[in-house]
Amino acid sequence: MPKTGSSAPPAPHKKNNAKPAPAAPAPPKKNSAKSAPAAPARASAKPPAAAPSGSALEIKDTRTGKTYNVPVTDGAIRATELKKIGTSDPDDTGLMSYDPAFLNTASCRSAITFIDGDKGILRYRGYPIEQLAENATFLEVAWLLRHGELPTQQEYDQFVHDITFHTYVHENMRKFLEGFRYDAHPMAMLNSSVAGLAAFYPSARNIFDETERNISIVRLLAKTPTIAAFSYRHVKGLPFVYPDNRLSYVENFLSMIARMSESKYEANPVFARALEILFILHADHEQNCSTSAVRGVGSSHVDPFSAVSAGVAALFGPLHGGANEQVLRMISEIGSVKNVPKFIETVKSGEGGRLMGFGHRVYKSYDPRAKIVKKLADEVFRIVGVDKDLEIALELERIALSDDYFTSRKLYPNVDFYTGLIYRSMSFPTDFFTVLFAIGRMPGWLAQWEEMLLDKEQKISRPRQIYTGLPERPFRSKLK
Ligand code: CMC
Repeated sequence: MPKTGSSAPPAPHKKNNAKPAPAAPAPPKKNSAKSAPAAPARASAKPPAAAPSGSALEIKDTRTGKTYNVPVTDGAIRATELKKIGTSDPDDTGLMSYDPAFLNTASCRSAITFIDGDKGILRYRGYPIEQLAENATFLEVAWLLRHGELPTQQEYDQFVHDITFHTYVHENMRKFLEGFRYDAHPMAMLNSSVAGLAAFYPSARNIFDETERNISIVRLLAKTPTIAAFSYRHVKGLPFVYPDNRLSYVENFLSMIARMSESKYEANPVFARALEILFILHADHEQNCSTSAVRGVGSSHVDPFSAVSAGVAALFGPLHGGANEQVLRMISEIGSVKNVPKFIETVKSGEGGRLMGFGHRVYKSYDPRAKIVKKLADEVFRIVGVDKDLEIALELERIALSDDYFTSRKLYPNVDFYTGLIYRSMSFPTDFFTVLFAIGRMPGWLAQWEEMLLDKEQKISRPRQIYTGLPERPFRSKLK
C-alpha cells in the first residue's frame, strides 16, 4: 500500500481550496463545463529559427535538369511542394520525402509546447517548465495547455469544481474493471477502460460541438485517476475507494489508492506535492509518440476517448512511458553497485540491451525534467531514506556520464530515470509507474487533440510509403 499518507494535515492549497466542494457527487450536468472558453486561435509567435519571409529553396533535379523554387516558411518546406518535382515517366507521381520515424518531419503547427533539445529547454505556452513545476498546480497547467493562458481565479475555481464533480465513474465501469484477472497490467486496464468510456458517452462523438468537447475533456481529466486507482485496488484485491470531493486532485487520487478505514484520507504533503510536480512535468511534450498517436487516431474524427486510448497504448511501450518501469527492472537485475561497471559494458557491447532512462530523441544536452526530478527525489528520499536501488542508479548515472560511449552519443538521463525511484519510494508497484505518467500526460493529449481538430490545415492522417514488394503476378494457389 503506498505510504502516501500522513497524520500531518495536508498542505493548505489556496488554489484548490478556493471553492469548497460538497462531499456527495452531483449528478453530471451536461453543460457544467460550458463556462470554459474555447481553445484560442493559434499563437502567432514564430519559432526562433524562422527564415525571412519570401525565402525559398532552389532545387535542381539532375534527372531532368529543371530547377524549382520551393518556399521556405518557419524553417520548413511543404512536402507537398516536392510533388511538383517529377520526370516524364507517366507512373511518376512526383517526388516524396522519406522519413521513417519522423526524424525530420513536422506533422503540424502547434502553439502548445516548445522544446529546444540542444539547450535543454521545455516550455508550456511560453512558461518555463521549471517555473511551472515550482509554482503551478496540475489543474492550472491543464487549463494553460488547452487555453493558452493561465486561468483567472474564477476560471480556475469553476474548472476545479467541474473536474471534482466528474470524478465518479459509472458503476458498470467498476464492474468492467472487476472482470480483469488479478495479474492484469494496470496499463492494459487503463487503456481499455479509457477506450470503454466512449461506450458510456456516445454524444462525445459530436466532436465539433464545443460543449461536448468541453465535457469530454473534463470527464477524461476527472475520471482517469479514478480508473487508475480502481485498477490498482483490483490488482491488490482491495475494495475500491470512491472519490472524495473534499480533496484536491492529487490528494483525492492518493486517497483512492491508499485509504483504508479512515473517514478522511490525509496525504503526506511532501508526497502529494511531489506527485503533483511529476504530473506537471509529464503534462505535455509536443509531438512525442503517444501524442502523435492521439493526433493520428483523432484525425479520423473519432471521439476523444478512443483517440486518447491510442495515446495510452503508445505510452505503454518500453521506449516511451514504459521506460520508467524498465528502469526499476534493470536496477533490480543489476542487484548491487559493484555490478554496475559490468552492466555498463554489456550495454556498450549491445548484449545488455539499452540503458533504460537514458537518451532522448530530442534532448541532446540534458532533459530539463530530469534535473527537476532529481531534486525532487532528494526531497522524497530525505523522508523515506536512501535505499540500495538509488545507490545503483546514482552509480549508473556517474559511470555513464563519464563514458565516451554515452557522451559521444549525447545520451543523458531522461525524465524516466528517476521518476520510477520516486514512485517506488512511495511504494507504488513497478507496473503502475506508467499509469502515473498517463495521468500526467492526459492534459497534453487533450490539448493537442483539440488543436489538431480545430486546425483547418489538418486532414485525416495518412502517410505515404515506398513500395518494396513484388510486382504484379498471377494467382496460383498452393493449397491442395
Ligand atoms: N542505452 C544505450 N545506447 C543507446 C541508448 C540507451 N538508452 N539510447 C540510444 N542509444 C544509442 C543507440 O544504440 C544508437 O547507437 P549507434 O549510433 O551506435 O547505433 C544511438 O544511441 C542513437 O540511438 P537511436 O535509437 O537512434 O535514438 P532515438 O532518438 O531513436 O531513440 C530513445 C531515443 C529514447 C528511444 C532511446 O534513447 C532509448 O531507447 N532510450 C531508452 C528508453 C528510454 O529511456 N525511453 C524514455 C524516453 S523519455 C520519456 C518519454 O518521453 O517517453
